[in-house]
Amino acid sequence: MRSTIEACVAVFLALGIALTAQAGARLDYTLNCMGCHRAGGEGAPPDVPRLRDRVGYYLEIPGGREYLVQVPGARQAPLDDAELAAVLNFILDEFAGGSMPAGANHYAAEEVAALRASAPTDIDAVRRRLEAELERRHGAAY
Ligand code: HEC
Repeated sequence: MRSTIEACVAVFLALGIALTAQAGARLDYTLNCMGCHRAGGEGAPPDVPRLRDRVGYYLEIPGGREYLVQVPGARQAPLDDAELAAVLNFILDEFAGGSMPAGANHYAAEEVAALRASAPTDIDAVRRRLEAELERRHGAAY
């Protein structure tokens, strides 16, 4: 009986932590990203790209997974690596929709730390190369 209660408490605690992380990521998105990317991830094309139904496509092309962390708005955000990982995972969960490739993994804090530290200097060139590939696969970029 006691172990059942302990197991229940453990489950509730784990659920609570998961829900808190999700709420924290939503708030971090609101405070740090929403001004440009808008509440529903619709952005303001062509100046700010749409994340909704589109951001997941990056995970299917070489270099795309790295890019989502290394793009300046993400990499330079005043968030620690775990917080940025949580915001990117929130974006994927909330906005990627049908663009999310089957079996794509969430980001972990360690991966985000390594990618932040190794960002290419010419990220614009990286984006242009990725955009060309996305357009080839999925049509118009926005
Ligand atoms: C000042 C406006 C601005 C803010 C704030 C901002 N972004 Fe962005 N974001 C952009 C622009 C513009 C791009 C397109 C690439 C570029 O020019 O840097 C972009 C691109 C991206 C992309 C890649 C999508 C693509 O199609 O290139 C991701 C992922 C992203 N931002 C995440 C974030 C996250 C996470 C935050 C908050 C922590 C954030 N951004 C804050 C403007 C912003």
